[in-house]
Amino acid sequence: METIQIEDKDFEILLENDQINKRTRLIGIQLNVDYETRCPIIIGVLNGSFMFMADLLREIDVACEIAFIRVSSYNGTSTTGSVKEAFGLPDNLHNRDIILVEDIVDTGTTLKYILEKVHSQQPSSVKVCSLLFKPSALLEPIPELEYVGFEIPNEFVVGYGLDYNGLGRNLKDIYRATIPA
Ligand code: IMP
Repeated sequence: METIQIEDKDFEILLENDQINKRTRLIGIQLNVDYETRCPIIIGVLNGSFMFMADLLREIDVACEIAFIRVSSYNGTSTTGSVKEAFGLPDNLHNRDIILVEDIVDTGTTLKYILEKVHSQQPSSVKVCSLLFKPSALLEPIPELEYVGFEIPNEFVVGYGLDYNGLGRNLKDIYRATIPA
């Protein structure tokens, strides 16, 4: 089993790039069907979603607009519990179909915060597409979470956009932290 080390932590493979790509293709097909007659605004939540967003968009062939927002809230391996700020949410979401693209939904705190801001502009629909979802970490249900790549256990993961202290975002595969012996 391939393991890697980032700073003080050891990681082992959880999802290979091939698996991620296959799943992404299927989500893309689903979105192409669901949004066939609409022109959604697809909003990537930075930094973690950049790789998933790029690969997902290559699978999407409906007319769409693209935007990115940035939220800072995460420190090391545990959520701080509070979301600091969101930058760059477009102000033209009224009456539009919105798809938020996330790398991972953990406690759901970040997403709740973004969703509140999005809904305040009265879009006609809002859905969330997240590559990863840790159901056992979720604090309250998120009805907008419609498209999920993989449900994973409540473990810290890195790679394919996700970082540990700023490192590991460039890894092609997704790794999980091993329990120290
Ligand atoms: P939430 O607000 O607890 O749902 O956390 C969401 C954000 O925390 C994600 O967009 C990630 O940036 C980060 N995050 C949550 N879990 C992990 C993880 O296992 N590895 C790396 N980043 C994570």
